[in-house]
Amino acid sequence: MNLPAYYPNSAKINAQNHLEIGDYDLTELTERFGSPLYVLDEKTIRDIAREYKQSLDEFYPNNLPIFASKALALKAVFSILQQEGFGLDVVSAGELFTAESINFPADKIYLHGNNKSIDELERAINYSGTKIIIDNFNDIKLLGELNKPVDCLLRLTPGVECHTHEYIKTGHLDSKFGFDLEHLIEAIEQIKKTPNINLIGLHAHIGSQIFEVNPYEDVARILLENYVKLGEKYNLKFNELNVGGGIGITYTSADDPPSIRQVMQILSNKVKSLINEFKLEPPKLIVEPGRSIVGRAGVTVYEVGSSKTVPKGRHYISVNGGMADNPRPITYQAKYSACVANKAAEQNSQVYTIAGRYCESGDILIKDIELPANIQPKDLIVLFGTGAYNYSMSSNYNRVPRPAMILVQNGEAEIILQRENLEDLIKHDVLPSRLAN
Ligand SMILES: Cc1ncc(COP(=O)(O)O)c(C=O)c1O
Repeated sequence: MNLPAYYPNSAKINAQNHLEIGDYDLTELTERFGSPLYVLDEKTIRDIAREYKQSLDEFYPNNLPIFASKALALKAVFSILQQEGFGLDVVSAGELFTAESINFPADKIYLHGNNKSIDELERAINYSGTKIIIDNFNDIKLLGELNKPVDCLLRLTPGVECHTHEYIKTGHLDSKFGFDLEHLIEAIEQIKKTPNINLIGLHAHIGSQIFEVNPYEDVARILLENYVKLGEKYNLKFNELNVGGGIGITYTSADDPPSIRQVMQILSNKVKSLINEFKLEPPKLIVEPGRSIVGRAGVTVYEVGSSKTVPKGRHYISVNGGMADNPRPITYQAKYSACVANKAAEQNSQVYTIAGRYCESGDILIKDIELPANIQPKDLIVLFGTGAYNYSMSSNYNRVPRPAMILVQNGEAEIILQRENLEDLIKHDVLPSRLAN
């Protein structure tokens, strides 16, 4: 049976009509590890990472794909991607510390952020080899105060529009990230007065969940034009060109993103032709995907509890998770697809709305989705495409412990994130002695 494009690569429906991922039946997996459960398919991550690396190696050999760790910052994920030849984009001491804890090679780590603290900058410099993406004048000032030699890239807001949600757009001029082109000269002049900063390249990231290829070509042109202009004027030796991440993924059958190979080919060809046009030494080409690496590799398995049908006829089923483990629907109306893991081959014949368990009426995971009729308590609802920006944006809203995450492959299941328990929830909660009974 041909499964839709939003399923993880190893997904299958077995003889019991149950959904399997990584050759592991999801009903057995939740019996063993409980629910809700984040499940991560190692095969999907490796297949996609290889598609990036192999297509870049073919079309632009001087390359470094780096994983935008904000999508899913876990040791196991960093480790798989290190094995696949990736570097890391980190945006906080916490993400950097996670990388340090597994000895991730520092020379493949880049620290981003529009409000880095001096401690974060110092930590990155001390994890020797980590590079800094300078986002604003404060970064330049703080780096000057630290006065330790460090390789840096400069982040530009290139003014390239892409069609995605307002909250995940970043490359347009009215953005909190990076230097607009009007402030570039001033930024370079301040950097020139800060001798410990070694400026080695330029960076831009235009947004996320992008289905078009042209914006990447536009970004390459804008970055390389500035590369030439600034390099010549200020005698800078640039050798890294980072065009950001953002390639979209299939969440529902309405989504039709380009293939990764296609984007890498078009981008590489554009960069090569611009290098010829501008007569440049080919810089290292860096791409920084997050969602497209781990998004489709992850699913979340929930158990159905209560249900009800309202007077106008909508059938609600409530599951044992929701906006705290997956804040994307309530934050930016993100759309998802689902199936029933223990009825995976049954015909879809009834429209349901899948409601989360949290105390917000907006906590709806999917509005109006066709699933098999007669869904019962304890049936297992699987939401697809939850690998990126779910756990990493999760919370303990309503004081509910976060789910575990299980890495599956070839019939093996390993915990890569422990389920939180009630004790975890009050671990940092302090009762002043005068209030104790
Ligand atoms: C600077 C930067 N690079 C890369 C990414 C990754 O984007 P995506 O997960 O859409 O690939 C982001 C995401 O917000 C980002 O801010």
